[in-house]
Amino acid sequence: MLLNVTTTVIFLLSSLFVILLVFLLIKNIIFYRSVKKLSIAEKILKLTETAIGADLPVRVRAWDGSETGPKSAPLLHLKSKSIVRWIIWSPRFPSLGFIRALVDGNDLDIDFKVDDFFQNFQLPLPDLILVECSFPKYIKVVLTSFKMALTVLSIFGWSLLCLPPPIPPEEFKQKSTFKKHTSDADKETASFAYNMNYRLFELMLGQTMVYSCAYYETPDMSLEEAQLAKFDIACRKLGLKEGMTVLDIGCGWGSFLIHAAQKYGVRGKGVTVSSEQCKYAQEKVKRLGLEKMVDVQLMDFRDLNEIGHYDTIASFEMMEHIGIKNHRCFLQIVEKLLKPGGRFVLQTISRGYKYAKYDKSYTTSYHDHPVFSQYFFPSSEIEYGHAHNKSLDEVGLEVRTVENLREHYVTTCKHWAKNLEENEKEILNSGISPGFFKCFKLGVAGCGLEWRNGLVTSIQYLCVKEN
Ligand SMILES: C[S@@+](CC[C@H](N)C(=O)[O-])C[C@H]1O[C@@H](n2cnc3c(N)ncnc32)[C@H](O)[C@@H]1O
Repeated sequence: MLLNVTTTVIFLLSSLFVILLVFLLIKNIIFYRSVKKLSIAEKILKLTETAIGADLPVRVRAWDGSETGPKSAPLLHLKSKSIVRWIIWSPRFPSLGFIRALVDGNDLDIDFKVDDFFQNFQLPLPDLILVECSFPKYIKVVLTSFKMALTVLSIFGWSLLCLPPPIPPEEFKQKSTFKKHTSDADKETASFAYNMNYRLFELMLGQTMVYSCAYYETPDMSLEEAQLAKFDIACRKLGLKEGMTVLDIGCGWGSFLIHAAQKYGVRGKGVTVSSEQCKYAQEKVKRLGLEKMVDVQLMDFRDLNEIGHYDTIASFEMMEHIGIKNHRCFLQIVEKLLKPGGRFVLQTISRGYKYAKYDKSYTTSYHDHPVFSQYFFPSSEIEYGHAHNKSLDEVGLEVRTVENLREHYVTTCKHWAKNLEENEKEILNSGISPGFFKCFKLGVAGCGLEWRNGLVTSIQYLCVKEN
């Protein structure tokens, strides 16, 4: 009896599987026939649009010279049919395969003008990436990938199933410790993000060398003016006056401390875990003759121990590096280092108001997506603003003002991307590979869309320590 039931169940499941396969094959043949007469560029665009279920406002140029799509749209130049291999060998995250091919540069190139990108590119890139993070949609993604792989291989040849393409050397090599957020792991990930050729940062960030959201008091402000405006707003919130002390945790290339010392006469200390940033900041401080006013050290925030020493503390977009589980510990350290009544300005990237919509169904956090964690900010984690607010209050740092800088970040990213565009030659001469440059430019511009779409934001808090 039991044997009979088992046999029937196995028979039914196998029949279902065969029916599904036949169904997929028939759908595939119908699709294959419908695209047979199209040019290669049209085929690729149609296949991709079918896979993601949305129109793609891009122009495609295929290896045979065929082209399709609007003239002003970003141009995807598929240099050889091997581009398909990168995608097929990254079935869980096709966009990672795409980025790897872009960095490698042999099979894919991309060309776009930053102004056109921000003006015309309406497709919510981040939403597309989020589809890959969704568990309920995961099965659909796998099935779609399988179906598309069948179609692609039958159109472009089964030889594409040969060995996976090599991972570009520019990619961050994840170790099992990288998500643990120990001081060593944080140092390694920050080094990946900030220790690369400083010319890239000089040419992208401009004179101020600030790698956080600027503040555009008027829409026509330059990047430099907006970064200095952001510093001045923070200095006013901190109430800086001559002779006071300020600590900058995650001080980057030292720009805030230098500004505060020059304009407000305050003595500052800054810490960073990037050796290149530290060296750069120390040399700049020396060059400006500010050694008595500004001290920059290579140090993890956990090693700061001057209890009750500082009148004021600032931290601009550092907290997203240390992992959500360490936020409380970080804020407790800030509270201990401040004098009673001392002020703290915290600027941090947070989940945007539209993120909540996705939160329940997406198992992978947006910033866990391998394109971000393997090419931009490994192991960064972002939290909701209300969670920061609660933690600040709980450790005894009373939140006095909260300012959302989301729209300012769209313009900041646009200015960074334009600087990359205008300085491409010089950046490439400094040793950055053309593929990585393209990936970086796309990443910076893509982040602008992320902020524009409300998935991410940056919030500036002013807090006061209890007296
Ligand atoms: C996005 S950059 C911002 C730099 C600077 N605040 C600015 O606005 O230009 C993040 C900074 O946080 C620093 N950082 C990351 N993890 C850190 C840690 N555990 N301790 C101290 N600094 C850290 C990095 O070295 C880097 O300088």
